Parts: sequence; structure tokens; C-alpha cells
Amino acid sequence: MCIRDSSVSVQTTAGDKSNFSDESYAASGAEIFENTTDIANADIVIKVNKPTNEEISSMKDGALFIGSLDPYNSNETISNLKEKGVTSFAMELMPRITRAQSMDILSSQSNLAGYKAVIDATHLFNKAMPMMMTAAGTIAPAKVMVFGAGVAGLQAIATAKRLGAIVSATDVRMAAKEQVESLGGKFVMVEDSESLDAETSGGYAKEMSDEFKAKQAQLISDTLATQDIAICTALIPGKKAPMLISEKQVRSMKSGSIIIDLAAESGGNCECSIAGEIKNIDGVPVSYTHLRAHETVLDLVCRLLLE
Ligand code: NAI
Repeated sequence: MCIRDSSVSVQTTAGDKSNFSDESYAASGAEIFENTTDIANADIVIKVNKPTNEEISSMKDGALFIGSLDPYNSNETISNLKEKGVTSFAMELMPRITRAQSMDILSSQSNLAGYKAVIDATHLFNKAMPMMMTAAGTIAPAKVMVFGAGVAGLQAIATAKRLGAIVSATDVRMAAKEQVESLGGKFVMVEDSESLDAETSGGYAKEMSDEFKAKQAQLISDTLATQDIAICTALIPGKKAPMLISEKQVRSMKSGSIIIDLAAESGGNCECSIAGEIKNIDGVPVSYTHLRAHETVLDLVCRLLLE
């Protein structure tokens, strides 16, 4: 989307995947444009993901860019924007303070991703999630383990519980224990002196020592082999995602178990994950879900049209 001469222009088909047609934008007062080069006159360019090199070279000097820039992995894009004289706002670096809550794209998308991960896992899982009892017999409830109990993980726990699964979760932040338990999950964690200090002042996880990682790997090995579904959401801001499930551990799971790795784009919590693909390891599909910040950007479009 771009703004020209106090007007708002939306690229054709930009809203298709969110069921907003070009006509609906036009009816709200936006112009529709086709070619990337049409952004040349825009003062402000808003995009869901980072701009391509072609888009950057089409932008004018002194323009503003707003979008999710993936700043820790986008050195080339950021230096191209700088060279072009474009001022950029990385939406994922918006401070998580009360005043900025309505622009928190991390929370809004993580919340949806946690929900969708469980729905996708349920769809792939060839058994029932809740306990099923009839006179003819009983099917045990599915066991779901969630890695990382931040925004996405907590939503995954809540969704799996609502579907009737037995849920456990692990995190390195002690504060997550009470949150997991309040949703009815069992907290599985290595408790030592390091885990008492595993949170930054901003509320995020610190990168843990190799010794802690070894203890965590042992605890996970023991638990994972008994699980039907693993939902991976563990991240460390600005760093590669922690590797929590090895290929050997995947092979220890029962055939038909499911792993959904939401951290795949940051390197993955599971050794076997490839972003955007479903791999089958000894009957265990390792999958990856990715939601784009459509709603948030469309919300910005609507606000700009209204203001
Ligand atoms: P995130 O997406 O960076 O990480 C997800 C989770 O992975 C975190 O809970 C983290 O502790 C966990 N993790 C990292 N390394 C791990 C490991 N080795 N093993 C297991 N788990 C590991 O975090 P997210 O979901 O964005 O939020 C984290 C913090 O931010 C929380 O304290 C939350 O309360 C806070 N927050 C604050 C908001 C606000 O003030 N507006 C909004 C949303 C979250």
C-alpha cells in the first residue's frame, strides 16, 4: 500500500487472501495500482513483509517505510533502505508498552499462530483429541506438548485444552509456570539456579548455557516419546531459535505423532523442520505454519482511510 498526494493507493489483489477485494478498497476511497514502480511518488509505503530490492529502488528519497522488516536477518534490505534515504519502521520492534498495544503485531499474530498450529495438528492427527467413551470401548485423549509458553504457546495450550487433550508445556522463564498451570497445562521444566534467572528485564528469554541445554534435552527426551503432538513456539529475540527436538527424538515418537514448528523460519525448534514444508520422519509429519500480518496492515489501511 502507498500514500500519494494525500491519497491512499492499494496494490491490486493485496487483500485477496484476507477476503478484501480491490472493489472494497476502491469503495472506501483508495486508488488501486498495479506496478511496483507506481510507488515512486509515495511519501509513505506500508507493506506486510520487508520490501524487495526492486521496491526499494522504486521508492523516492526521504520516503517512509512501515512493515515487518525481520531486522535481525535483513542486513542487505536495511542497508539498501538507508542508501536510498528511506526512513523505516520495523513493526516487530514496536515496544510492548500499554500505549503501543494496538500496534503490537507480534502478539496479534502469535496468538493466531498458536491457535492455528493446534487446529492444523488436529487436522493432521488421525486419532481423536478428547477422550471418547462408549460401551464399546475408550479412546484415550491425545497428549500435546507445547515448547515455549509465550503468546503463541499459551494460546496453543488453551486451544488444545478446549479440544480435550492432555497438555504439558516447557519454557525457560519461571514466570510461564503459573500461566501454563492457570490454563490447565502441566509445566515441565529444568529447575536450577540458571532457570531462576532466565528472563530479561523486558520479559523475554535469555539464551541458555550448554549445560542447561543438555539437561533440558534429557527432560524433553523423556517426555516427548510419550506425546502425540508437539507444538514448537520457542524463540529468543534477535537470535536463532533454540534447537529443542533432535531428529533422534522425532524418531522416538510414535508413528502418526505430529510436530508443528512455528519457529521454523528462525531456524526451527526441531532439527527436521524446513520452513513452509511438511516432512515425514518415520511416520511423524513435521510441519510448519506461518501466518502473515494481513489483519494488522489492513487495519492500518482502514485507519489511514478514516483519518
Ligand atoms: P517469544 O516469541 O520471543 O518466545 C516464545 C517463548 O519461547 C517465550 O515464552 C520464551 O521464554 C520461550 N523460550 C525461549 N527459549 C526457550 C527454550 N530454550 N526452551 C523453552 N522455551 C523457550 O516471546 P513472546 O511470546 O513474544 O512473549 C514473551 C514475553 O513478552 C512474555 O513475558 C510476555 O508476557 C511478554 N509480552 C508482553 C506484551 C506487552 O506488554 N504488550 C505483549 C506480549 C507479550
